[in-house]
Amino acid sequence: MADRIVAPKSDIARVSHVSSFAQYERLYQAALTDPAQFWSECAQRVTWFHPFDCVTSQNFAKAEVAWFLGGKLNASFNCVDRHLATRGDQTAVLWVGDEPGTYRHISYRELHEQVCRLANVLRAYGVNKGDRVCIYLPMIPDAVYAMLACARIGAVHSVVFAGFSAQSLRDRIVDADCRVVLTANEGMRGGKTIPLKQTVDEAIANLPVHTVLVSQRTEAMVPMRVGRDRWLADEMPKQRAYCPVEWMDSEDALFVLYTSGSTGKPKGQLHTTGGYLVYAAYTHELVFDWRPGDIHFCAADVGWVTGHSYIVYGPLCNGATTVLFESTPLYPDASRYWQVIDDIQATIFYTAPTALRALLRFGDEPVKKYQRTSLRVLGSVGEPINPEVWQWYHDVVGDKRCAVVDTWWQTETGGILISALPGATPCKPGSATFPLPGVQPVLVDEQGKELLGNGVSGNLCLASSWPGQARTILNDHARFQQTYFAMYPGLYFTGDGCRRDEDGYYWITGRVDDVLNVAGHRLGTAEIESALVSHAYCAEAAVVGFPHELKGQGIYAYVIAGKSADGVSTADIVAALKQAVRKVISPIATPDRIQVVAGLPKTRSGKIMRRILRKIAEGNYGELGDITTLAEPAVVEQIVQGHQAAKWPTG
Ligand code: WT7
Repeated sequence: MADRIVAPKSDIARVSHVSSFAQYERLYQAALTDPAQFWSECAQRVTWFHPFDCVTSQNFAKAEVAWFLGGKLNASFNCVDRHLATRGDQTAVLWVGDEPGTYRHISYRELHEQVCRLANVLRAYGVNKGDRVCIYLPMIPDAVYAMLACARIGAVHSVVFAGFSAQSLRDRIVDADCRVVLTANEGMRGGKTIPLKQTVDEAIANLPVHTVLVSQRTEAMVPMRVGRDRWLADEMPKQRAYCPVEWMDSEDALFVLYTSGSTGKPKGQLHTTGGYLVYAAYTHELVFDWRPGDIHFCAADVGWVTGHSYIVYGPLCNGATTVLFESTPLYPDASRYWQVIDDIQATIFYTAPTALRALLRFGDEPVKKYQRTSLRVLGSVGEPINPEVWQWYHDVVGDKRCAVVDTWWQTETGGILISALPGATPCKPGSATFPLPGVQPVLVDEQGKELLGNGVSGNLCLASSWPGQARTILNDHARFQQTYFAMYPGLYFTGDGCRRDEDGYYWITGRVDDVLNVAGHRLGTAEIESALVSHAYCAEAAVVGFPHELKGQGIYAYVIAGKSADGVSTADIVAALKQAVRKVISPIATPDRIQVVAGLPKTRSGKIMRRILRKIAEGNYGELGDITTLAEPAVVEQIVQGHQAAKWPTG
């Protein structure tokens, strides 16, 4: 059956940066023919203190990639200072507070002042170029100031999503060897408070963190340790509102951001200054078709790469007005996004399919209560978007007037790689469509043979580098090489499966490694397993994903109870283990379903057969395949019976 095609809107095409598919194809060819020329031109969108003399140097075999060598620049200067002359009074950051109706406009001039003061505070507490600073802040303007203040003085920020537990935060602080942490007394989200300072206190016990800078988001009193903890509001006025910028080499680190992989230990993805900034700015302009006057509303959290690239660096580098949204799509009700869009006249809106699926359940009425006439481009990110949800986004939210762009990328890629372009790309709902100019996807089979032509499915790789590519895993380049470049020599392996259909459209089919995508959050099954076995009730665990109506994937854990669980009811074991995962990782990693089993299906060499566990979790008992090679084939039957007996809701 032929897929339905949604043509680009002519009134968007009339003014968009790329205004026809033919123009996209020309750009794509130009980038392919002369990449050095293409990226060199692209890099002119940022201000260089000293020009680069080599566009790129790449060696995928060694996992060595560098861009704009010899160039000097500063990301904070590019995102703030250079706009002062022309946009000083324009709103740079539009803060949308948790309580409906709370808005704060921060101009580029004010942004400059705050970033400078905070940069001076950091310097006063001993932060130097190259030092790592941990940012564990809610969605308040201080989070943006903190990132840009670090960038200004050449410190490397490590933003940790404020939903992570003390243990996860601690692991990340230790791995990056952060000595300074920024946090808030409490966070506010969906009308609830989150005890951030308390979590930091727990996380840094006995660590060499010498300074904790605390923002005051709520009225709550929190313990402040003398000599270590300082209120940011006391420190900022002590510093002058001017701070010179550090001249950074293009390849100097800008930030590290942790992401889950197929082992238990999160990987600190290191992004560098020149390439990352150029790529964030380029993709922000092209994919969202950003133009002066736009109000860019990306509803992500700054704790994820989406927030880094499309709330902070991309938009601010381009001189945009960027929205910082503290609340949730359901607070106080399911029309919050649309109410905010009308209030602030947002023109671009970017969110995740999981949020859209949650909203779709409330029907069209909460959407239609608001006008949404300011909107022009609607973006989706984080997981495959179901065609029905895409259609709803397009028809109802966008009133069939707006461009919908499904953007595929990863923490490792720094910015969007595959996406439709407003005004140019005919869309097939559910497909991320085509690679951006400069991006070369290839599909390979299990043996690493490239699958040429259309109508093929395989593992998604990239044939050459792009400026936004992560350069290494902090303190573990061998792992970087191993994870991304060893599987298919000469290619970067994304970990995603993908189909290129008869018309050349790319359809991301999901992870092919042991990584789950739960409500747009990336979680390694190994991480969750290790959190489960950290509790004495659990001797062994195997975690797989299963289709979940709202979250895309749900978390299914098979556990073998430990000795200490003798005499404990199954319900109590399950409750205790869920609690353990919340505590060790975060509530976002809580298993949806835990099945206590007597044994796990293993090969004779002891490898857990996850394929079988996945099929059972999906309820596809008929597709278990050959189980005769298992050490104990009988456990499969027991697990199936246990799954049936649990009567999990379907759909
Ligand atoms: C993984 C990366 C990119 C920022 C947010 C997630 C999945 C991401 C899409 C999309 C299908 C997608 C992939 C990818 N993913 N965007 N548009 N369609 N899948 O970043 O946490 O690094 O996760 O998210 O599986 O590998 P991340």
